[in-house]
Amino acid sequence: MQPLAIFASGAGSNTARIIEYFRHHPRIHVALIVCNKPDAGVLAIAAKEGIPALLIEKERFFRGDSYVEELQKKEIGFIVLAGFLWKIPEALVRAYPGKIVNIHPALLPKFGGKGMYGRFVHEAVIAAAEKETGITIHYVDEQYDHGRPIFQAKVIVETGDTPETLAKKVHLLEYEHFPRIIEEVADLQNHR
Ligand code: GAR
Repeated sequence: MQPLAIFASGAGSNTARIIEYFRHHPRIHVALIVCNKPDAGVLAIAAKEGIPALLIEKERFFRGDSYVEELQKKEIGFIVLAGFLWKIPEALVRAYPGKIVNIHPALLPKFGGKGMYGRFVHEAVIAAAEKETGITIHYVDEQYDHGRPIFQAKVIVETGDTPETLAKKVHLLEYEHFPRIIEEVADLQNHR
């Protein structure tokens, strides 16, 4: 069994989908939820599902051991960022080479980088009068929204779309594709 950790900072609707997808999976198991916000909805999901949660602290994450030992002790082999809003420190990227994936709610390299998350992304897409937006799933490196792309899916931006309607459309794309792509990438890693 490949124990997987999900890092999340918010409501955790992607996390809920990923947990559901892997509930009876023969090879992959969601073993840990890592969160940086004590009041995040994702922690309630972890509690309801009986999945251990780790609330991380800024100083240790960025200037300490970045929780590498703790993750290794729990035998985490793969990390998924599902709405996790802190940058991943170098120590963690080095400990998990090619084993951390992120989902971004836009078509990178457009609308990525620091401060580009959730609603801010959809506002920027509308302000730029984009004709389409979507999701990007990519490997994680030391820069925000920068690692090698794995998968993109698109959706049309229609006249009258608001940040809220776009967020809904993009979330639907995320629910449809993210669990399956995680499965493919984690399986690939297992066979190396
Ligand atoms: C998702 O749309 C995800 O793509 C986005 O945060 C949302 C989390 O929703 N991530 C980023 O913006 C990262 N830059 P959720 O908590 O309901 O899964």
